[in-house]
Amino acid sequence: MFKIQTLNNISLAGLNRLPRESYEVASEMAHPDAILVRSAKMHDMDIPASVKAIGRAGAGVNNIPLAAMTERGIAVFNAPGANANAVKELVIAGMLLAARNLGQGWAYACALEGDDDSIHKAVEAGKKQFVGFELPGRTLGVIGLGAIGVLVANAARALGMKVIGYDPSITVRSAWKLESNVEAALSIDDLVSRSDFITFHVPLTEQTRHMIDAERIETMKDGAVLLNFSRDGIIDDAAAVAALDAGKLYAYVCDFPSNLLKGHPRVVALPHLGASTREAEENCAMMVADELRAYLEDGNVSNS
Ligand code: MLT
Repeated sequence: MFKIQTLNNISLAGLNRLPRESYEVASEMAHPDAILVRSAKMHDMDIPASVKAIGRAGAGVNNIPLAAMTERGIAVFNAPGANANAVKELVIAGMLLAARNLGQGWAYACALEGDDDSIHKAVEAGKKQFVGFELPGRTLGVIGLGAIGVLVANAARALGMKVIGYDPSITVRSAWKLESNVEAALSIDDLVSRSDFITFHVPLTEQTRHMIDAERIETMKDGAVLLNFSRDGIIDDAAAVAALDAGKLYAYVCDFPSNLLKGHPRVVALPHLGASTREAEENCAMMVADELRAYLEDGNVSNS
């Protein structure tokens, strides 16, 4: 019987399907064998001595003190791809949200007051104020061609967009996974200068931090849109806001609210909803639970 302690909103719907004779799963327990965590920041000293493995129900592992875990001999597993569809859907929604001014239109409609007649007049004014643009023929630049980036690229193609991809950690030729007609950019600067929308699907590292800064924004097309459903810090938010204010960028859609972004009319910042679907939570929980079982039972290691 393995004892798995869950932290921070792990969906128990999937975990309840685990064979009860093999697992005890609870949010509070003494001497757990493993910890299953979502995005809660973990600290080395809070991890009980009994723990042999940590499962991260998601792709990114930057909430886990990896160096300390290695030192303690604790294996860390993640769930690459298990929430990819959920993130892909939100990226597509984010492009539509920006292109059709949905955030501003919604705020405008929510603030309407008065009788039906004056609301009707305001609706007519709103239609003129929030004229958007359509996606077919526009270019999407996808930075990071892992499970999520590939799904996003293929979905954007299906919407009639031109897609160019770049991956800083693998050779651009591994874009073979893309279904068709996705061009591999020569470099990040090549992609940045040719895209109407840019979406990021890379982890936050020293190499990717502020990958988009004021200098790079200058090289972007006028009226381009930035989408960050990856990690806070990949885009220099202050530079993005300055470029929005100057009319250089059209919109910034991201999954990381902050005081700097709050209330900006051309920013939509969500509370890290990328992977927040019932399906993704269940997929992630099941994938890491399987990995933990394989490790705790037989010492098998995958995705660690
Ligand atoms: C991920 O890295 O996959 C996401 O951050 C998942 C989550 O929202 O927990």
